[in-house]
Amino acid sequence: MLANRSALVGESVAIEDILRTIEKVSQTDSTVLISGESGVGKELIARAIHENSNRSNKALVIVNCAAIPADLIEAELFGHTKGAFTGATQNRLGRFEAAHGGTLFLDEVGELPLQLQSKLLRVLQTRQFEAVGSNKTIEVDVRIIAATNRDLETAIQTREFREDLYYRLNVIPLKVPALRERKSDIPQLISHFITQFNQATGHSVEMPSGQILEALMAYDWPGNIRELENLIERLVILKGQGTVDLGDLPHRIFQKFAEGRPSGTGALSEWEFPRMVLPNSGLDLKAIVDAFENHLVDQALARTNNNKNRASELLQMNRTTLVEKLRKRGMIQTVGSRNRMKAENNHPTGASTGSDSNSNSNTNSNSNSNGNANNNGSLLGNRGGFIPDVNA
Ligand SMILES: Nc1ncnc2c1ncn2[C@@H]1O[C@H](COP(=O)(O)OP(=O)(O)OP(=O)(O)O)[C@@H](O)[C@H]1O
Ligand SMILES: [Mg+2]
Repeated sequence: MLANRSALVGESVAIEDILRTIEKVSQTDSTVLISGESGVGKELIARAIHENSNRSNKALVIVNCAAIPADLIEAELFGHTKGAFTGATQNRLGRFEAAHGGTLFLDEVGELPLQLQSKLLRVLQTRQFEAVGSNKTIEVDVRIIAATNRDLETAIQTREFREDLYYRLNVIPLKVPALRERKSDIPQLISHFITQFNQATGHSVEMPSGQILEALMAYDWPGNIRELENLIERLVILKGQGTVDLGDLPHRIFQKFAEGRPSGTGALSEWEFPRMVLPNSGLDLKAIVDAFENHLVDQALARTNNNKNRASELLQMNRTTLVEKLRKRGMIQTVGSRNRMKAENNHPTGASTGSDSNSNSNTNSNSNSNGNANNNGSLLGNRGGFIPDVNA
């Protein structure tokens, strides 16, 4: 087992694998390339490698290659002499020297400018370099860990990343899967962050369970562990104590969970209701309910590419009822009114500029509306704004 797990929480097969790799590589000086999406824990893993190595009593120096302007990064890494460039008022030690005896973590290494990639390659091969403005060669003993959230193999193909540097860095590849690929870690992570933020704030929020935990497990966490950590911090601070309620979760999480629930059993769960607070001044109930209805109808149409049969199934209503609702909103013309309109104003808005566009206009008026009615009920924003009242 690792002597120092460095707070790497998780029990998935993926995390166990990562822990085993950390344990092995920390006993060596080999270069490690950690890859994975933003927020998966690359930096935490780099720290764990350093802390478990025999370099742990020396510095771990972190350089974020994406955060330093291209023209400063060379001096930042290798140091500079006094007068080497405008603003260099004194000699300055670079990060490589600062990491002597320890570990240098090159974060977002994929963002390193090409010209510096060749310099880095040389340092990896020889551990030697010169400070900017100096011709004295410096030699360091540094263990390198690099990280990237970019696919470097693609960057090699587009000639943004040197292939020889990639192979030098990728001696020990360590791929960190996204949180959605190791959802079994979620409960332990939540518990870890709840404890951590309760301790930090003196609050006493309880570990979520039941539907709340289900919802947190159903969500895909595009921002990975950082997103989960931030949410738990917010919940602890805003709740202060007690249990987390459905209404405390952000809409995106609530929505993902609600979408995946079986419905149509008659009794809607609390999940499926929109959560709206009745303003002190009251509200126009009919207008709000109408707007909500339109919102769901439009979603059903968008999801079915305006297929009214399938949309009405999704909404569990008769097709004729749906059609009637659309007609009331002016989103469907009857054939009669369409012909009348054509005759009256020689409709100038269609995309067809040719003279002979009438033969198929009934069905084509909607041919550009593939799907995306947005949430404002904006099917009316389509060309012509109407859904053809044909079989679909
Ligand atoms: N397995 C884990 N257990 C506990 N906390 C974790 C774990 N993985 C990541 N974290 C926490 O999640 C946050 C993000 O992790 P980290 O900064 O290491 O990710 P990253 O991959 O370097 O992200 P980025 O690409 O955005 O820099 C940190 O606060 C870290 O402590
Ligand atoms: Mg990072």
